[in-house]
Amino acid sequence: LSDTPLVVAIDGPSGSGKSSTARGVAVRLGLANLDTGAMYRAAAWLAMHEGLDLADGPAVARLVREADLDLELDPAHQSVTVNGHDVTQAIREPEVSAAVSAVSTNLDVRADLIARQRRIISEARSGIVAEGRDITTVVAPEAPVRVLLVADAAARIARRHAELGGDVDAAAVHDQVVRRDRDDSTVAAFHDAAPGVTVLDSTDLNLEQVVDAICALVPPAFDPA
Ligand code: DC
Repeated sequence: LSDTPLVVAIDGPSGSGKSSTARGVAVRLGLANLDTGAMYRAAAWLAMHEGLDLADGPAVARLVREADLDLELDPAHQSVTVNGHDVTQAIREPEVSAAVSAVSTNLDVRADLIARQRRIISEARSGIVAEGRDITTVVAPEAPVRVLLVADAAARIARRHAELGGDVDAAAVHDQVVRRDRDDSTVAAFHDAAPGVTVLDSTDLNLEQVVDAICALVPPAFDPA
């Protein structure tokens, strides 16, 4: 049996089902769950809350570097606190979704958050599922399980739409999924799998099937049985 805790790294574009998948795998295997997108969202929320111009890269990076960012990693009770504000709900608001790419494409912010993510992963004593855009390639390239979750654009847009509720504007959802992925992919190449990364297409799979497929990739050395 392995004496290092299991790390499962999952990347993918928006609407690929990453968050639900990561949570499902964490619950199934008894691991912690790190949603790295929530960290970029919390950074964007803070910069907006402080009234910064998100285009002022150095000012945003300085604010984030000094910020106290705290994540609850239990997949059943995930929460995010930044400088004492519980922003668990606020970071899902459309204003944050629309603005977050301006912060996640800031390379100084990325360097800071990547370092924090590596620390969180290395301190997760009972193992962790980490999910984002650059986990399999940059944050945890040594993870024993690395998956790129993909799905057709139409399926991703439909899922985001369902997540947001029926009354949202279809064009806005399309913009969120397609434009954000284009902006985001300028700094993290998450459309192509790096060598050794398993591509999993979730277009025609339900959540349980995706979780099953990822759990099947766990090397026997990590088998709790
Ligand atoms: O997955 P999400 O929608 O919560 O991600 C929020 C933003 O952060 C989105 O613009 C992509 C970006 N992101 C990133 O650049 N790298 C990550 N590891 C995770 C998210």
